[in-house]
Amino acid sequence: MIQGVIFDLDGVLTDTAVYHYQSWRNIASGVGFDLTESHNEQLKGVSRAESLDIILNWAGAERSVEEKALLLTEKNNHYLTLIASLSTADILPGVVDFLSNIRSGGLKTAVGSSSKNAVFILDKLQLTGYFDAIVDGNMVKQTKPDPEVFVNAAQLLGLPTQNCLVIEDADAGVTAARAAGMHVLGINGHGQLQDADLCVENLHNIDLQFVQTHFSS
Ligand code: BG6
Ligand code: MG
Repeated sequence: MIQGVIFDLDGVLTDTAVYHYQSWRNIASGVGFDLTESHNEQLKGVSRAESLDIILNWAGAERSVEEKALLLTEKNNHYLTLIASLSTADILPGVVDFLSNIRSGGLKTAVGSSSKNAVFILDKLQLTGYFDAIVDGNMVKQTKPDPEVFVNAAQLLGLPTQNCLVIEDADAGVTAARAAGMHVLGINGHGQLQDADLCVENLHNIDLQFVQTHFSS
């Protein structure tokens, strides 16, 4: 029986991928690489530092530790200007109703995100109060696809991992959830997310009954 739901942030609660893409495109072009949307798909769920390493690798470029630190700051500053006006209007369809419904039904809720901006973004979306625990990129040693973020979230909720459902939009996150021994609902898979138990377009019309019907084993 599912007792807790752990939500990824970017791509599940709000769609920030386009802003990550714009700011990474800028950095990539500075190292002589044309970053396409398809490249960006491969960066979903991956931490900021690892994303930069992947882009430098694609570009065949090498940078010192100090240069990389500057690029990471530049990327994040640009990203923060792009998300400055994020508001409740940017919450993805069905999210608030689903959160209210499962919490009324007694389920615990957490966020498990690779982002170091998660708390800032949740506040902007006015969603912070809907979660019993938040684990973000500042709180883990290993980021997705490592299971640490989800294992920590389950611990904070006081739940066995097998009684948790993870909601994810990225392969790195689905792999992390599987490695944690959790059930996985994929969002907007477009034929990807093959390791998820099930995929839906968004959380519109998804409720506690749907969760217990599809994920209780
Ligand atoms: C993930 C996003 O949630 O967070 C990635 O899917 C992003 O695209 C990663 O790179 C890290 O985010 P941030 O906000 O710490 O740069
Ligand atoms: Mg995501």
